[in-house]
Amino acid sequence: MARQSRISGFYRLPLVERRRAVADVAGVDFDELVQGLEQGGLDPALADKIVENVLGTYGLPFGIALNAQLNGKDRLMPMVVEEPSVIAAASNAARIVRNAGGFHAEVREALMTAQIQLTEVADPIAAAERLNERAHEFLALAAAAVPGLVARGGGPRSLEVRDLGEGMLVVHVYLDCQDAMGANLANCVAEAVGCEVAREAHGRLGLRILSNLCDRRLVRVRCAAQAEDLRARPEDGAPLLDGTEVIDGVVQASRFAERDPYRAATHNKGIMNGVDSVVVATGNDYRAVEAGAHAFAARSGSYRPLATWRRDGDLLIGELVMPLALGIVGGTLRIHPTARLALKLANVSSADDLAMLAASAGLASNLSALRALATEGIQRGHMSLHARSVATAAGAVHDEVDRVATLLAAGRAFDIAAARRILSELRGA
Ligand code: MEV
Repeated sequence: MARQSRISGFYRLPLVERRRAVADVAGVDFDELVQGLEQGGLDPALADKIVENVLGTYGLPFGIALNAQLNGKDRLMPMVVEEPSVIAAASNAARIVRNAGGFHAEVREALMTAQIQLTEVADPIAAAERLNERAHEFLALAAAAVPGLVARGGGPRSLEVRDLGEGMLVVHVYLDCQDAMGANLANCVAEAVGCEVAREAHGRLGLRILSNLCDRRLVRVRCAAQAEDLRARPEDGAPLLDGTEVIDGVVQASRFAERDPYRAATHNKGIMNGVDSVVVATGNDYRAVEAGAHAFAARSGSYRPLATWRRDGDLLIGELVMPLALGIVGGTLRIHPTARLALKLANVSSADDLAMLAASAGLASNLSALRALATEGIQRGHMSLHARSVATAAGAVHDEVDRVATLLAAGRAFDIAAARRILSELRGA
């Protein structure tokens, strides 16, 4: 594991020093780190081998959230994201959570779901019975389609028949994909057993594809935060809010999301800020993760928050449960050097481990957002971090960027016209 995830004054270091510090704590060779990050790791010739009609590549910032402790170990969280404040917010929350013991996560089972659709089934009840009787044969057929996975200790585990009504049955094959995300494996299994399953059901074979609602691949992460670490100022000049008042504010924010899908969507967006950033950095399929997360959030029939918060004395307790199908082998990881570097920096040992880390980033992001919303509001912190990109867009270069950003924040005006005005004043001076 990374020797430590706390690096004091990290954000103030020049870029090259930051790289050195991370290489050092992660035990990664500095040159390898630089190579993995220059040009986003992907030159156009390599990109041309990944997707079609390639013209070039598209860069995004790659950063590290600090301070995280997961299941007792310090961990770096690699994040790729274009939104200012996401990485700072995750780092801040991780520091608060660390004081109360860090994140505690688990993955109890990690099964992907392969779906086989059957239509025109005349007697669905009898068909389901016959399919269940032959389940072991279908599982053997499925296993034969993924010999490599079986050799690595994974493979099909069980089968379920669901009656969707009007002569439509769907057969689920649950599959342990080990360290792979598993989309190709699940599709392969669905295609391998589809014909035989349809024949037994006396039905017509329909779709054969994985489900992205992978509710048999859930990750659960819990954390606590101490009241004394949550004190905050509601607005400039106002007295500090007591930590327990902040806890109550966060709990009310959680209850709001639990009652209102409009708020739950934004609450979950804040969680996905952290989750997706780790998912993208590690070369995983963020569209699949998003689809699964929101389908899971709506599983009760109404859209609900993925994470909730409650008070326990002077502690704020948060819990996040969500599906996360991530891989540390195959797919983009075979060729993308930056994704491989990200896994190395995070010191990821398995797909489950990566899921726990990404979920911790999600819970940290959620805590940070709710704490800000329940106290000073989101705009002050958000805009002061956004100020550097406004300054850059206004033409500031080198150390002008931070000087313009500081003056923008002081004047609470974050538009480009204000940035240009400040810049010309600075240059005039
Ligand atoms: C912004 O990217 C995310 C938030 O809107 C999340 C939330 O409202 O909880 C701040």
